[in-house]
Formats: sequence, structure tokens, C-alpha cells
Amino acid sequence: MVENTEERRQAALITGTSAGIGRELATVFAEHGFDLVVVARRRHELEALAASLKAGHGVEVTVIALDLTTPGAPQTLFETVQRQGIEVDVLVNNAGINFHGDFKDISLENHLSLIQLNIGALTALTHLYLRPMVERGYGRILNVASTSAFQPFPNLAVYAASKAYVLSLSEALSVELRGTGVTVTALCPGFTETTMLHTASATTGRLAPVPSFVVGDAAQVARDGYQACIQGEVVQVSGRLNQLATFWMQHQPRWLGRTLGGWLKQWVD
Ligand SMILES: NC(=O)c1ccc[n+]([C@@H]2O[C@H](COP(=O)([O-])OP(=O)(O)OC[C@H]3O[C@@H](n4cnc5c(N)ncnc54)[C@H](OP(=O)(O)O)[C@@H]3O)[C@@H](O)[C@H]2O)c1
Repeated sequence: MVENTEERRQAALITGTSAGIGRELATVFAEHGFDLVVVARRRHELEALAASLKAGHGVEVTVIALDLTTPGAPQTLFETVQRQGIEVDVLVNNAGINFHGDFKDISLENHLSLIQLNIGALTALTHLYLRPMVERGYGRILNVASTSAFQPFPNLAVYAASKAYVLSLSEALSVELRGTGVTVTALCPGFTETTMLHTASATTGRLAPVPSFVVGDAAQVARDGYQACIQGEVVQVSGRLNQLATFWMQHQPRWLGRTLGGWLKQWVD
């Protein structure tokens, strides 16, 4: 990898940095001396994070408050960063949302905004940043997927499908990019202690009893993601239990995955 030096520190652009795993990822990258571009809708949270990372680690942090579901937002982000003369060495596509419930009961508007964020913006940013990275002969892309990428999930149908897309896209690009100096990594966390998990618990009223040993720590997920990304690993499932579960799932027939997803839905409903 290119080392951070006095002359030029590397820069990482991380989406969804105002909370949760994205906030922890920003902290890990700052600890390793990366300048940062932090992106989410809530400016106040981003500015507080930027102030704390600048003070704690002496890195430059550029705040961009943006709704990535709005048309053209990834292009606007790319151009804004370019105008500021920032060369992005690492792109982290972390921003994501989920909606829990029967497919037919969730509004089409919500389904489409999920697809726009979890798939559309991630694909657009990957496309925008890949070419300059390949031209420079170095780059890292970290796409945050999920263990739900490995099987269909009734009641999280569109979310799990979006994460299957992220995993598949990342794996395919990792092969296309061999020998270019650019790598793509899919990070697959399981249940992780963040706002997303709390919102899901509040919606279902049932996720709260998930045993604590199943729920991962966002800071640990971020550390796992950072290591895998910098080392250019293709797929990183965070946590020993999640690794065992996804390994097992990949060796089962698809009907069994669907059936287990159905049982999980009955338990949660
Ligand atoms: N928590 C889990 O159990 C879990 C498990 C597996 C995978 N993941 C994945 O991990 C990633 C991070 O999730 P998290 O749990 O950390 O969620 P979170 O705490 O809800 O944080 C989501 C982040 O995405 C940003 N975001 C949401 N909508 C956005 C939009 N339209 N434009 C720009 N930014 C937006 C949010 O910021 P603003 O609200 O300020 O925009 C926030 O910073 C997601 O891709 C998620 O699917 C989470």
C-alpha cells in the first residue's frame, strides 16, 4: 500500500459517517493518519465528528452534508471533492438504510429510496472513483454489505437483496481489477449495535431479545473492515459466529436458506 507520509497523507471518503459503523470507520481511518471526507445528511453530527477527529488525530476532515438519494448526488459529491483538490485513495460506501416488514406494506417510495441509497449511490460512487484510482495504480474501495447478503430474508426482502447485490458486485469487480493496484472489499457485519438495529427493534418489538453475544460492536466491525480493506481482501465477514453462520449457509441448498428465513420471520412477527 501507499504509506502516509509528511508530503502527502492519504484520503478516505466515507459515506454515512454521522452515526453507527460509518462514524467508527471514520475514527479508525483517522487513527491511521488518513485525511477524511465525511458524508451524510446531518451536518451538525458530521461537524462534531470532524472537530473531534481533527483535535484527536491531527488529520484534515472535510464535511459534506448531502442526501445521497437525490438525483445526481454522487456526481455532485465527486465534483465537490475534486474542486477542493482532494485525491481520494479509499472510498468507503457505508451509508445504508433498511425498512422492516412485509414487502407489500412498505411504501414503494421507501423501497425505491433504499435501492437508490444501498445500490444506486454505491454503484455511482464506485464508478466515479474507480477510473482515477486505476489511472494512479492504487486505490481501495470498501463496500458495506451484510451477512443478510448470503440468504433471502422475508420482512427484510429488499434490504437483503440490496446487500446480495453489493456482495456480488464487489466480488466481480475484485476479479476485474486484478493487477491494477485497486481492490474492492465487501464488509459483511451481522447484527451490530447501531441506530439501525435500534430502529428495527422498535419497529418489530422483538429484536430486543436477540442475545447480546449475537450483537456486534460497531467499533470492532470498523476495525475488521479497515484491515480487510487495506489488505485488499475480497470478503470480510465480521465476527467468528457470523463467519461460521455464513460459511455454513453457503454450503446449504437455497431452499433451506429460504426456509430458515421464513422461520426467523415467524419468530420476529
Ligand atoms: N447495524 C447493523 O446491524 C448492520 C448489519 C449489517 C450491515 N449494516 C450496514 O452497515 C451500514 C451502516 O449501518 P449502521 O448500522 O451504522 O446504520 P446507522 O447507524 O443508521 O447509520 C446510517 C448512516 O447512513 C447515513 N444515511 C442514511 N441515509 C442517507 C442518505 N439518504 N444520504 C446520505 N447518508 C445517509 C446516516 O446519516 P444521516 O441520517 O445523517 O444521513 C448514517 O450516518 C449500512 O450499509 C448497513 O446496511 C448494518
